[in-house]
Parts: sequence; C-alpha cells; structure tokens
Amino acid sequence: MGRVVNRLSSKLGRLALQSPLAVASGTFGTEYFDLFPQSVLGAYVSKTITLLPKAGNPPPRLYETEAGLLNSIGLQNTGLIGFIEEELPRLRSILKIPLIVSFSGASIDEFCRILSVLEQEQGISGYEVNVSCPNVENEGIAFGADPDIVFELTRKLAELTEKELVVKLSPNVTDIAKIARAAEAGGATTLSLINTLYGMAIDWNTGRSRISQKVCGYSGMGIKPVALALTHKTAQAVKIPLLAMGGIHTWQDALEFFYAGAAAVSIGTALYSDPLAAVNVYQGLEAFFAERGLTLNGIIGTVR
Ligand SMILES: Cc1cc2nc3c(=O)[nH]c(=O)nc-3n(C[C@H](O)[C@H](O)[C@H](O)COP(=O)(O)O)c2cc1C
Repeated sequence: MGRVVNRLSSKLGRLALQSPLAVASGTFGTEYFDLFPQSVLGAYVSKTITLLPKAGNPPPRLYETEAGLLNSIGLQNTGLIGFIEEELPRLRSILKIPLIVSFSGASIDEFCRILSVLEQEQGISGYEVNVSCPNVENEGIAFGADPDIVFELTRKLAELTEKELVVKLSPNVTDIAKIARAAEAGGATTLSLINTLYGMAIDWNTGRSRISQKVCGYSGMGIKPVALALTHKTAQAVKIPLLAMGGIHTWQDALEFFYAGAAAVSIGTALYSDPLAAVNVYQGLEAFFAERGLTLNGIIGTVR
C-alpha cells in the first residue's frame, strides 16, 4: 500500500501539526466540535487567562463594522485557578489535538508565576504568551511594544518550560521586526501574529461610541492586508516559524499567508459568521495542494 502523503502537515517549533490551521485565542468554543471533526485543526488555542479572574468590560462590547469586527471583551476569564479546576479538565477530555494555553500577566513576575503553575498540569502542549496588555511595570505601554521587555519576559519564560513557547505579537507597534527578533532571541519557539488593531466606531446620529470602551480591538476581513504585510515583514526578520492570523475567511486567504511566510494560520472572526470556516479552509487547501502536486512546506515564504 502506498504511503498517504499529508500535504498539509506543518511544524511550529517543537510541535508537529497534522493540519496548518488553528483557532485564534478568544474566538472559538469547543462546542464547534459538534459541527466538524477536530482533525481539521492542528492545534487548539484557548482564550487568554490571567492570574486572577477578570469580569471584562461593560457592554456594548462587540460591533460589526463594514469590514470586520470591533471588540472590547477585556480578557474576561475565570482566572488561573478557575481555568485549572474547570476549563482544563474539560479541554483535556474533549481535545484530541494539541492544546496551546494563552495567558497574560500584569508584570514579568506574574507571567512567570502563571507559567510555573501551568507547567504542573497534564495535557498542555504549549503556551501562547499574550503581550498585548498594558504593562504595570512600565505604566501605559503594552508589554509587546517594548523589545527589551519582550526579550526579558521571553528569556525568563523559556527557562521555565520545554514546551512550545509562542509569543503573540501586537500590530500596534512602530517596528514589528524589532519585537519579533527580541522574542526570538529570548527563546520563543514560534511567533503568532497579529493581535487586534486599534479600532473605533461612532454612531453619527447620536455621537455615541458604539463600544463602551471607545477605542477597542479591530479584527476580521478589514485587517487582512495589514496582517499579511506584518507576516511578511516578520518572516524576513526571524528564523522561527510563524502562526499568522488576521481576517482569514477562505482557503485562498490562508494560502496568501503561507506565501507571506506563515507555517500555520489561525482563524478567528470568520468563525462568528461561519462556524464551518475552518472546515472549508482545510478542504480547499487539501484540494489545491493535491491538484497542483505541491506541499505546504514547499510554498512557505515564497512570495514573489
Ligand atoms: C471577540 C474576540 C476576542 C478575542 N480574545 C482574545 C484573547 O483572549 N486573547 C488573544 O490573544 N487574542 C484575542 N483576540 C484576538 C484574536 O485571537 C486574533 O488575534 C484577531 O482577532 C485577529 O484574527 P481574526 O481577524 O481572524 O479574528 C480576540 C478577538 C476577538 C474578535
């Protein structure tokens, strides 16, 4: 019997992926697995947790724009202990694919404490470090905007784990290449990008902000060109693999990100309008690569 070639297999640092698709943190609930097989995904990225529970921001906190989504969820979560006691056992029992746990801290020490506690738990294949939150040690500036802090944070986290260490980059920086190189030098094994852009919507009729938080996070279709450009720029700057995201709805969108330099891609906002988006992307890619006789690995970063 001939060996079945998996044209879509990929690698993120220490993780071998059966599919180059993941789900973007905060956008996907496991209830979607009632609708399609998990094997469509190479990894599951959980919603960002913080040390203590967070109630999130007051409503309204979602608004659909002409081309994308605004959100100000505000990292609502049950906190580290809640995650370990309730969410993690559930994820462990449901998931057949690698689990990447996203977390965020208010200081370098807090990030390290969270990782140390998670390291004691079974069933976690890697971490996604969300550095987009404001840094209390450096008032007002997000962790992810300062290369020195990103280096220091990644270095300390890398000392604490042998698992896949993904650092998630923010697009809201002057030079993403600098931040990417800092995370790589610190010991990140993969970079994921992009988190949400800054966005805002105002009701012209009343003059009111459509989101209670006013300036919030912008994701979905409208951010794809920005995400592609930042993926390309980051791919030029580092050697470690990229898990890219930002506005991916179709398999053609995903392909564009592979050409730009992504080893895998995440789907986020698209799932809100089409819970089957990941299946369609997977099937489209499979058909494309088989028809062209190509493999995913052969096209990563080959944009001309
Ligand atoms: C409602 C919502 C909640 C999100 N929550 C998180 C989160 O908890 N942690 C995180 O790192 N990113 C979060 N994100 C950002 C996504 O993971 C992703 O980086 C971004 O939406 C871009 O991808 P997309 O355009 O495919 O959605 C959230 C996005 C949305 C729309």
